[in-house]
Amino acid sequence: MAKILVTGGAGYIGSHTVVELFNAGYEVIVVDDFSNSEPKILDQIEKICGKRPAFVELDLCDENKVNEFAKQHKDIDGIIHFAAFKAVGESVQNPLKYYRNNFFSLINIITAFNSSVKLVFSSSCTVYGQPDVLPVTESAPVKKAESPYGNTKQIAEEILAETCAVNQDLKVIALRYFNPVGAHESALIGELPIGVPQNLIPFITQSAIGKRGPITVFGSDYNTPDGSAIRDYIHVVDLAKAHVAAIKRLETGSGNNYEVFNIGTGKGSSVLEIINAFETSTGEKLNYTIGARRDGDVEQTFGDVTLSNQTLGWTAELDLKEMMSSAWNWEKYLKANPF
Ligand code: NAD
Ligand code: WQD
Repeated sequence: MAKILVTGGAGYIGSHTVVELFNAGYEVIVVDDFSNSEPKILDQIEKICGKRPAFVELDLCDENKVNEFAKQHKDIDGIIHFAAFKAVGESVQNPLKYYRNNFFSLINIITAFNSSVKLVFSSSCTVYGQPDVLPVTESAPVKKAESPYGNTKQIAEEILAETCAVNQDLKVIALRYFNPVGAHESALIGELPIGVPQNLIPFITQSAIGKRGPITVFGSDYNTPDGSAIRDYIHVVDLAKAHVAAIKRLETGSGNNYEVFNIGTGKGSSVLEIINAFETSTGEKLNYTIGARRDGDVEQTFGDVTLSNQTLGWTAELDLKEMMSSAWNWEKYLKANPF
């Protein structure tokens, strides 16, 4: 049984990926420092899967400890590297926090495992900025990043591409996620935003449950059918499965040793459509007001997912209804069972 290291495996996407790796028959070891997650998530994974991943608490910025970890775990067959900070606004306020964590952790992990690593990297559609052509393909130009966070993803991709070019034993797949939302159908794991959520779906669910006031729709004067901004929302369970597909591709050794794939549904939805989808799939009425555009937001983006569908043999299966109802079930679970 192949053994996969999941860095940031207690986090939102990582925890769902651990579940899908178990479902696919992999052995899993998680490394996390709980800087943006809760230890209880590992118990929740155990409730879902009937087993828990091996776990080592470690700050991946600590080079010595990462080297020590790699020495003690020579049997790791592949790595999925989620560990990073991800709050766009905070990265503007504190760029060094983001450059330090997102680069040091990546460089330490590749260096420690040295030549023969198979690694899946969490990248983001943020690298495209506002694409000139939609749906955006992987060959579209990378635009100047709007935030230090976005810049960490662009530069990390360059670090990986340049390192792979001189080291054929290093095999990397970078997945450019569109907007991950929703939660596991069990409602035992999901997104745990700290403070006021900056992202749309957690704000909607917290507003619906009474934890926040009305939702502000950031902009209604975009050049889109209803004037609100468009994104490609993808269910986190579909996204988790894309990581299993990427690991399988790395195992087969096909393709170049550095590849990039869009991971989305290929379909764009506006903010107002999301509000409507939430109301119809949950039966909950939302209060919202129309506000100004948010600085740094793009008007619309959605992915061309032909390459990931054909090459990884993976396709997103869950629709907006499932995204909204699972996010709502998770919010209700959290209210009844506070973390
Ligand atoms: P998350 O914050 O829920 O998970 C990240 C996990 O990594 C957390 O458990 C955190 O404690 C851990 N971590 C952070 N720094 C660490 C360090 N130095 N050492 C050990 N553990 C550390 O975030 P997520 O939403 O699950 O995102 C996972 C990855 O996907 C990130 O790289 C993120 O940038 C990327 N991504 C996320 C989104 C999104 O909208 N959620 C979109 C595109 C890309
Ligand atoms: C979605 C839409 C908002 C909140 C961010 C990062 C990106 C990636 C995914 C990591 C936008 C609108 C939001 C609200 C609103 N993360 N909105 N009212 O901005 O597409 O992407 O998360 O890589 O890098 O930038 O996601 O969920 O914040 O916003 O109207 O209260 O909802 O303007 O159009 P975004 P989001």
